[in-house]
Amino acid sequence: MGFNMRYLDLKRKIRDGRMWAIQGITEAGSGHPGASFSAAEIMGTLYFKRMRYDPSNPDWSERDYFINSKAHSAPGFYSALAVAGYFQPEELRTLRQLGSRLQGHPVRYSEHQRHHSVPGIEYSGGSEGIGLSVGVGIALAQKLDGKKNRVFVLIGDGESNEGQIWEASMAAGKFKLDNLVTILDRNRIQQDGFTEDIMPLDPIKDKWTAFNWEVFEVDGHRVEQIVDALNKAGQVHDKPVMIIANTVKGNGIRHMANNPQWHGKAPPKRQTEVLLEELESECLIAPSIIAGERENYEDKIRKVEREGVDMIHLDVMDGRFVPNTTFFADTIKKLRRLTSLPFDTHLMIEDPLKSIQDYIDARCDIITVHAEACTENEFREIQERLIDNGISPGIAINPGTDVPKWLYQCLHNLDVVIVMSVNPGSAGQKFMPEVLSKMIVLNKQLRQNGFRGYIEADGGIDATTLQQTYDAGARIFVAGAAVYGGGDIHGAVIHLRHKAEVALERRLLNHATQLNIRADWMKARKHILIPYANELRIEEELHAIR
Ligand code: DX5
Ligand code: ZN
Repeated sequence: MGFNMRYLDLKRKIRDGRMWAIQGITEAGSGHPGASFSAAEIMGTLYFKRMRYDPSNPDWSERDYFINSKAHSAPGFYSALAVAGYFQPEELRTLRQLGSRLQGHPVRYSEHQRHHSVPGIEYSGGSEGIGLSVGVGIALAQKLDGKKNRVFVLIGDGESNEGQIWEASMAAGKFKLDNLVTILDRNRIQQDGFTEDIMPLDPIKDKWTAFNWEVFEVDGHRVEQIVDALNKAGQVHDKPVMIIANTVKGNGIRHMANNPQWHGKAPPKRQTEVLLEELESECLIAPSIIAGERENYEDKIRKVEREGVDMIHLDVMDGRFVPNTTFFADTIKKLRRLTSLPFDTHLMIEDPLKSIQDYIDARCDIITVHAEACTENEFREIQERLIDNGISPGIAINPGTDVPKWLYQCLHNLDVVIVMSVNPGSAGQKFMPEVLSKMIVLNKQLRQNGFRGYIEADGGIDATTLQQTYDAGARIFVAGAAVYGGGDIHGAVIHLRHKAEVALERRLLNHATQLNIRADWMKARKHILIPYANELRIEEELHAIR
């Protein structure tokens, strides 16, 4: 199940999980959004990209086990199970209601408990500090039985105040449980305060290492890093593995992020639609490394990786489809060793089907070919091969081109549509504003026909045109000259992010206004809106909000 999940599909499923969780929480008027969201990438990556299981056969003897010890993250856990196929996601709307199978804390599934639980739940949680012991027991039993099933346990950092966690940790070290992977949702908040104020845990890495665990540390919201750590965990022998996932409580909703008050509180139901729009509006920034000084690609990647960009945009030009030549799959293979950042590869080459395997072997995460360079059948074959290899397929159209009619038959498994806003061939060209109206129409038409992927804006994107293309429907933004052209990469990335945030806040404010909850939304969002008050022309209004 899921090992070959494509990068953008994985992100979409995790996004869907957050959206179902928030609907359940606002409908119930209670629940734990904070932990559901800090652990969303962790649980999503396990279910959609790592664990062996079968929703149609929940007791499959070869399945991997997931023990959610920080059980208050139940809404997030339930939504991951639903998106994984164990039950219909719509059932999340019955969260915590009398008679619902989805109660505040999960109940281990059994025939006997079928009215209070759902298939896939291996452990009844609630009182914290216990789940790791259960995981150790299951892992030890698998080992004693000579079985290959693996056990994944999710624990919290507040929960790590519990002494039982450390008893279990010692036992796992003693029994060399290399079939046990524990992930710590390190969101630095517990109940009503910050962990380091209440019961300091740091140096947490040293603690687990001292208890004979192999320890990895990742950004817990970067799926590529979690996948990387899980791959490494699979190579560890004679030691249990701890993955410290640095996360943000409430991640995904900006006014909930890193805010203890959203540990166990539900946002008002009237805000649900606006919250869903925010969750659906994540932006991805992808610097194009052909911009700026010639080559020196490694250095360019390192510099933007430090700035926290989301992906690297790789422009492959063959000197035939476009009048310029850049680099090919062999260069990408070398760059691949440098970083786990997703590679967003834009093939501006003739006859892409002929060399597509080279780019598949170069382990790109997204591969986009031009509609002008392939026939319907060629594109279908490319799309199929990319999906079979867990790579997100994309199609690009030049400013003067419209999407081919046949593309509407391929939308289901299409993850990206690049709407070029320059004629391809080099970085540093001027943005063509006439593309905006096309992008608006296309975004609408494609979504009406089942497209659930990303519109990508590529060509002349800077702080101004980013907002314009955002409003036109783009959510992936390629930036070459805007990032590498000015000598201040740090400032450039921050500025682009800021502009994406302004565009988001404006959109959410407009939505809240349409729903007649403008003041209510601004009150909930006040501390987030202040830095944009001038650009959003809401200074007075915001000031009046008490
Ligand atoms: C152009 C490429 C773009 C370009 C972006 O053919 O596809 O990705 O490098 O660079 P800027 O942002 O400078 O236009
Ligand atoms: Zn490009």
